[in-house]
Amino acid sequence: MSRFVLALLLAAVFVGGPATAYDQAAAEKLFQKHCATCHHLDRALKKNKDRAGWDKTVKRMQGYASGMFTDGAAESIVEYLTRVRGPKD
Ligand code: HEC
Repeated sequence: MSRFVLALLLAAVFVGGPATAYDQAAAEKLFQKHCATCHHLDRALKKNKDRAGWDKTVKRMQGYASGMFTDGAAESIVEYLTRVRGPKD
């Protein structure tokens, strides 16, 4: 394999980033899928919380939902809510 091809491959991996990179659209889908089964999405969307606050809430919801969604999904939802419903300044 030429060095040039190798460099291109490395660049592609680098630009593509790790597989776990945050994806806003995917996180929004997880939120819509998992957070509307017991109440309206509004219940979350009318609140403002910091990351620690959302983390606490989502963990509590995860407890109610017992196994309905994974820790990975919960993490993405916390990230999503922190971005769209972060603390009021
Ligand atoms: C299994 C049912 C269930 C699911 C699934 C669920 N919730 Fe809830 N949620 C509740 C119940 C019950 C309450 C009221 C009691 C309470 O606040 O602990 C509530 C209250 C809330 C509140 C208001 C209280 C607060 O702390 O601000 C928010 C915000 C909220 N949920 C967000 C979410 C989010 C975000 C998700 C998705 C990760 C979610 N819920 C999924 C049952 C659920």
